[in-house]
Amino acid sequence: MPESGRSWWRDAAIYQLYVRSFADGNGDGIGDLTGARARLPYLAELGVDAIWFNPWYPSPMYDGGYDIADYRAIDPVFGTLADADAFIAEAHALGIRIIIDVVPNHGSIAHPWFHAALAGGPGSAERSRFWFRPGRGPGGDLPPNNWQSMFGGPAWTRVTEADGTLGEWYLHLFAPEQPDFDWDCPAVRAEFEDVLRFWFSRGIDGIRIDSAALLCKDPALPDAVAGQAPGPAHPYLDRDEVHEIYRSWRLIADSVSGDCGADRVLIGEIWLPDAARLIRYVSRDEMHTVFNFPYLSCPWDAWALRRVIDQTLALGGPAGAPATWVLSNHDVDRIVSRLGRADTAFDLERRRYFHDFPVDLELGTVRARAAALLTMALPGSVYIYQGEELGLWEVQDIPDELRQDPMFHRTGGADPGRDGCRVPLPWSGTEPPFGFSPADATREPWLPQPKEWRDLTVAAESASGGSVSGGSVSGGSVLDGSMLDGSMLGLYRTALRIRRSELAFGDAPLSWQPAPDGVLAFDRDAADGDLSDGRARVRCVANLSPAAVGLPPHATVLLASGPLTGGMLPPDTTVWLRIGS
Ligand code: NOJ
Ligand code: CA
Repeated sequence: MPESGRSWWRDAAIYQLYVRSFADGNGDGIGDLTGARARLPYLAELGVDAIWFNPWYPSPMYDGGYDIADYRAIDPVFGTLADADAFIAEAHALGIRIIIDVVPNHGSIAHPWFHAALAGGPGSAERSRFWFRPGRGPGGDLPPNNWQSMFGGPAWTRVTEADGTLGEWYLHLFAPEQPDFDWDCPAVRAEFEDVLRFWFSRGIDGIRIDSAALLCKDPALPDAVAGQAPGPAHPYLDRDEVHEIYRSWRLIADSVSGDCGADRVLIGEIWLPDAARLIRYVSRDEMHTVFNFPYLSCPWDAWALRRVIDQTLALGGPAGAPATWVLSNHDVDRIVSRLGRADTAFDLERRRYFHDFPVDLELGTVRARAAALLTMALPGSVYIYQGEELGLWEVQDIPDELRQDPMFHRTGGADPGRDGCRVPLPWSGTEPPFGFSPADATREPWLPQPKEWRDLTVAAESASGGSVSGGSVSGGSVLDGSMLDGSMLGLYRTALRIRRSELAFGDAPLSWQPAPDGVLAFDRDAADGDLSDGRARVRCVANLSPAAVGLPPHATVLLASGPLTGGMLPPDTTVWLRIGS
């Protein structure tokens, strides 16, 4: 806890920076730290409190950098440690904190430990840092058990031993290029504790912990049983032993100090259906927050959203962990496309099914605007995945030969994978690379950008102005405005500014208000309950019903996601109102 008594991460707006696709400084078609640093003023103007970097480490990039070869360095394609230091310092000077991804479940086949394990041979200490086992069946030709990789196919790959014979198998819950570490091995624990100290001492403010519930495996490696719930009896998902690891990480996070004060945050990437199990990760001596995947997967439906919001708010548990709100990230379909389909839910397992629905981009955009205001009005921290603020959509027509995601390749193309949400950002100009790379670039962007994104560049959206905001509405007068006058970027900028300046936001509780069917309405009050100046109460009303509804009595319209006509809130529109004098 900082001296002020208020932890920044409780209500921060955190921008997810997928460095490969953010901005290319040296013209090789791949985003890098020089490019990202040049865009820091953009992020400051957007109004975010922190940046979360997806993995920036040396990696053969079999899984977009989630296959790490060196946890204490920067991939040369992205820059150097000096570039990272400069980025951290410059961001801090702008008041922006830095969160990085740490991937403890698995490394890379290019990690020196894996090379040593191959060379060390069966039974060696080097192999004990991973899960090497003999195969089953005659000649050990079958994998040690039936576990399947999250990316498709068996979770085991057989190695060729130094003498050229087929040998042991190693475990990889993801791609074969991502061997799982054995967390029963003390060297693995010590190594990661040291990695945390390394980055904290460089001024990092937080760690996003990848695949955080997968680290511990049943040492007997029993076959998995179809449909088995995560938990102590599951062979690898959410086993109880994993908590010990995060308790030791919390001690480290609490003990280090740095430029922004000793207020470091641990954020878990945990997909668990059972809220009671999830709460265990945010107890007082473990992580500070966990990602909110139920919200990210929830359909555009008022009752479903209300249920998820209530469940999320109840999740804080005894430690009072704040909620997190996420509409999209680098693993899921972009929100504009998701909300523009007939089925607006998201499900990792069923991505192929969702991609069969036609996408109504106009509808998706209107809803994404409404979803953004709903999300930013909720108590807790909010994550914005790069490009969400521009209204980018999922690029579903990337030619197969350009697709890179192992999810696509390991399912033989049955799963479209995640390349469609990772296409490089459009910054300016009227044709690709849209300012993503400099004018003298030697390569095209690593994934092709749709030509229609000329209307969604930062420059185009900055020119097309702000949002429907600030109008004073009294006595039923009208706040008119064409939604098209306000770009998505304008909306995000204004929303983040208001969110930061209004006393009522932050992580203080919400109170639901009566509303017609299909409409969500809640008030946010100042944390200290002081409503004396009338400024401190804000009502958020989101209309997910098919008909316009009347606005409740209010003093001011702070912001609306679309035009309000005749004192009515149209379908798929959210408004923030100041209540009181
Ligand atoms: C979760 C990450 O978000 C995803 O991109 C990655 O493929 C897996 N973990 C494996 O590291
Ligand atoms: Ca580059």
